Amino acid sequence: MEKQITLKDKTFGLSIPYEQIQKAIRDLAGRINEDYKGKETPLFLGVLNGSFMFMADLMKEVDFDCEMSFVKLVSYRGTKSTGKVSELIGLQDNIMGRHIIVVEDIVDTGESIDHLMRSLVGHEPASVEVATLLFKPDAYKKDVPIKYYALSIPNDFIVGFGLDYDQLGRNLKDIYKIKE
Ligand code: IMP
Ligand code: MG
Repeated sequence: MEKQITLKDKTFGLSIPYEQIQKAIRDLAGRINEDYKGKETPLFLGVLNGSFMFMADLMKEVDFDCEMSFVKLVSYRGTKSTGKVSELIGLQDNIMGRHIIVVEDIVDTGESIDHLMRSLVGHEPASVEVATLLFKPDAYKKDVPIKYYALSIPNDFIVGFGLDYDQLGRNLKDIYKIKE
């Protein structure tokens, strides 16, 4: 029988199992390792809360000297994006002249990443790219290039592996899709 879970009022069915997520992360890390070989100490900037699990697994596969830091943005309520992104919280690092890789859990409409990229570019980094676990190309409305994504998914609401439904489900090791 299909694996199902319930969080509050919603039921979710298994969508992307752990092993498949791990393989996609390893493949993505391989590309990043290739592209950043020989570059001066890149900084991975994780976007909390959702990216914590992806960041942990991605970083274990990164094979060059790098630094890590985290920032926070909040834009989502329930299962629909509010389209309003609050200020970037907690950029403590001087990123001027540095190679930055922003680590996200998911890029959906792109509101959050667009906002974040604009504020980062203002600090004049040498380069800034996005690495996201999941990308919803059909929902994406912005022009910021999403250079690195582990998995591309349809426009359905999902939870698990760091992603939440009203703060629940972040601890799930597989990814689950909402049932209508
Ligand atoms: P965007 O600004 O529309 O691209 O959405 C950005 C944020 O909304 C992500 O970083 C997630 O925190 C959240 N989000 C978007 N889609 C989903 C989803 O399917 N499940 C859970 N959270 C999501
Ligand atoms: Mg997020």
